[in-house]
Amino acid sequence: MCGIVGYIGDNKAKDVVIEGLEKLEYRGYDSAGIAVLKDGNLFVEREVGKLSELKNLIRNKDLMSNIAIGHTRWATHGEPSVANAHPHTSTGYDIAVVHNGIIENFMELREMLSKKGHVFRSATDTETIVHLIADYYIDNLEIAVIKALEELEGAYAIAVVSKHEPDRIIVARKGSPLIIGVGEHENIIASDVTATLKYTDKVVYLNDGEVAVVKADSVKLMNSNGVELPLDIKIVDWDISAAEKLGYKHFMLKEIFEQPEVIINTLRGKIYSEQVEIKEISAEILHGIKRVSVIACGTSFHAGLVGKYIIEEELRIPVSLDVASEFRYRNPIIEEDTLYLVVSQSGETADTLAALREVKAHGAKVIGIVNVVGSTIAREANGVIYTNAGPEIGVASTKAFIAQLVSFYLLMLQIGRIQEKISKGKEREYIKILEKIPNQIENILKNHLYIQSVSKSLTFVKSIMYVGRNINYPIALEGALKLKEISYIHAEGYQAGELKHGPIALIDEFTPSVAVCVKGSTYAKTLSNIQEIKARKGKVIIIATEGDDKIKNEGMDVLYIPEISELFSPLLTVIYMQLIAYYVAEIKGLDVDKPRNLAKSVTVE
Ligand code: AGP
Repeated sequence: MCGIVGYIGDNKAKDVVIEGLEKLEYRGYDSAGIAVLKDGNLFVEREVGKLSELKNLIRNKDLMSNIAIGHTRWATHGEPSVANAHPHTSTGYDIAVVHNGIIENFMELREMLSKKGHVFRSATDTETIVHLIADYYIDNLEIAVIKALEELEGAYAIAVVSKHEPDRIIVARKGSPLIIGVGEHENIIASDVTATLKYTDKVVYLNDGEVAVVKADSVKLMNSNGVELPLDIKIVDWDISAAEKLGYKHFMLKEIFEQPEVIINTLRGKIYSEQVEIKEISAEILHGIKRVSVIACGTSFHAGLVGKYIIEEELRIPVSLDVASEFRYRNPIIEEDTLYLVVSQSGETADTLAALREVKAHGAKVIGIVNVVGSTIAREANGVIYTNAGPEIGVASTKAFIAQLVSFYLLMLQIGRIQEKISKGKEREYIKILEKIPNQIENILKNHLYIQSVSKSLTFVKSIMYVGRNINYPIALEGALKLKEISYIHAEGYQAGELKHGPIALIDEFTPSVAVCVKGSTYAKTLSNIQEIKARKGKVIIIATEGDDKIKNEGMDVLYIPEISELFSPLLTVIYMQLIAYYVAEIKGLDVDKPRNLAKSVTVE
């Protein structure tokens, strides 16, 4: 998820773009760049690191102009570097493009364009766009852009300028947000309203497939065939801080609601003609593995635990799990035919990085499941699956977790195909199930106000028990962790069957439980555990499967997920866990995004 800004109007283009990028830095911050058109020429300045680095670079440069586009990057293809920073330019340095999204067919296009003499200078998918536009360009930029877009597969929000047509910015979107701030003799384009609100409250939200020609005094909106459309100008009444969170009260809530889109982005570029192909992992690494060892911390550890159930159930390959801080001090036995997986949102967690280095020091291979492109763990692993969840600002991990789960399903399918343990039919069936998840999560999220009301009952309790069985036991752990870290209420996650071996002594009318009891292999057993809790006056919030009338009267509240195979149910049950924790902390008036004592990335041991 990157940030795009463009301005055309009077001679303050550079300042408006830089200021706008500052507002969008929450969307990505590993490199930044700006392109201005001045005196018939195109000037491009780019710098790796935060926006402040770019500001230092251009401080003494004369970039005064009435037209500019800029970009703050969240790397998806190509590590953070100046060469990979946007804007990207055509071979002749006459056209510049900034892009937010993922182009899935960029390799094929890159090969075709290189053969036609276009010179590639980066490892990004974005650079393909600018060379494609240049390839079509004769004397009309908007036509060249429209033709180029017809060949792109994937998601994009782009802004394009050319030194041959210095009176316009061409913008287009498909799958990534783009808006036009409509001003007086000036117009601003951006990824979201945070970058335009200072100058105008009038906004046009582009829809997928639309293209616009933005001049200082006009905006021409078209569909993908170039047919002009009426402008639907909205008035935005958010303040800036609300806008950064796109109107959500906290980044965590925004990130919970982003999860349908995140799953689409995590799947994007990893499924080709109904089979999984994670290009970043070579087949030979997966071919001969007989065991898997997962090493991680916190929420990422819980994702790995779900991964254990997934891989063992479907591939019959044993999976061991270690908390990273334990792994490296227990003198681990490192075996060659074991695939080591480290899971990390930040890619900088010191314990996980140390475990990776320990494994590599023994000559074994490590694959990372990582969100931050170019992070230390991503760079030092022998292969990496990027979760493409975009920057996760809330300290409590939500969208990154769900992206990690999806990555485990994809990895299971890829290993299964390579080791011939998963039939083509099953692979197609599972891919279809994954592709339906975003819509199912959308439907669960529609209940969020009901979940807020359910959460009220938990706001002032002293301790909460989370229970689940089988593949939803890790979701019980994750639910307890989410609650602990943002509401400061003690919570424990347990295997439901373990209660009778001690923890049930904690249950009374003041200690509620949250139980995952969805349809599946351990449904009946979990239901009896719920009854054991109730027999001790324990109140229970149950996460169950739609249509399960038997359970309706078993809990003080029942939260339903749609019918789904038990194997995939964690992708849905965890949504309720996230929302319960969020609303308890929000009702308590706590700092949900920055909870006390915690950091987003634990880079110390
Ligand atoms: C998750 O909500 C916590 N913030 C924390 O447990 C986190 O998952 C853990 O520190 C691991 O971080 P990583 O995924 O960046 O390695």
